[in-house]
Amino acid sequence: MKINKAIFPVAGLGTRFLPATKAQPKEMLPVVDKPLIQYAVEEAYAAGIRQMIFINGRTKRSIPDHFDTAYELEAELAAAAKHELLELVHSIKPDDMECIYIRQSKALGLGHAVLCAQCVVVNEPFAVLLADDLMVGSPPVLKQMVERFADWQASIIAVQEVPKDQTRRYGMVAGTPVNDRMMDMTHIVEKPAPEDAPSNLGVAGRYILTPGIFREIAAQPRGVGGEIQLTDGIAALMRREKVFAFRYEGRRYDCGSKEGFLEANVELALAHPQLGPGFRSYLKTLNL
Ligand code: G1P
Repeated sequence: MKINKAIFPVAGLGTRFLPATKAQPKEMLPVVDKPLIQYAVEEAYAAGIRQMIFINGRTKRSIPDHFDTAYELEAELAAAAKHELLELVHSIKPDDMECIYIRQSKALGLGHAVLCAQCVVVNEPFAVLLADDLMVGSPPVLKQMVERFADWQASIIAVQEVPKDQTRRYGMVAGTPVNDRMMDMTHIVEKPAPEDAPSNLGVAGRYILTPGIFREIAAQPRGVGGEIQLTDGIAALMRREKVFAFRYEGRRYDCGSKEGFLEANVELALAHPQLGPGFRSYLKTLNL
């Protein structure tokens, strides 16, 4: 089985980023020159995925608009012979990419958001990308996971080491190593206290899941924070099927937090082919 579909849960309220997210989705915050959601969609596209499913909420109109045709803008750019910019605008949604929008009318949590896509995904394995986790990897992190999926044909959850005092921010996992980067997962628990965490490995916002997850999520009561948690669904799935934790190669920026967002902007600006050299010189003048 191949991964053809990616789910982007984008209905969250973004409270960690107020006031910026009062009237606009956190996924539309730009890092350097692109909104977060575009990085995540490009990562899925680079992993061979062509059907993008957005689980949308209120105040999120700008996300469908971003991936839609902008007739006036395109007509103006064409009339002014600004071909490079026109190409840039077109490239946001390549012709072979399909966008599907599902409205999550109640913010009942990440598990519930994923369950909202069941009617479109039905019976295939799929990816989930949390756009506020901006991932930089070579190959891109989801591509690394899709390649592993081709061999293992089982659910794969991206994990990374997290500091002991931050376990309450993550799903925390433990497992038995099967090779250098993969672990046969034995535990997963949502946002435990440090003393209850099964290891120092926390879930980053990239998942490949088998369709069996839908039945498990549907059976979950509300978990941490009164929400239907994807983590609880994965814990239940683990009792029926193998689930692997994957220590990806790359860097994660927590762009749902102000600190992580600033770090991403500085590092990606420094790495930007056009902006990088000038920005580096500017930072040097600050004599920090
Ligand atoms: C979600 C998941 C959590 C995961 C995290 C990664 O939490 O529930 O298991 O570790 O994303 O960013 P959130 O950050 O949405 O509260």
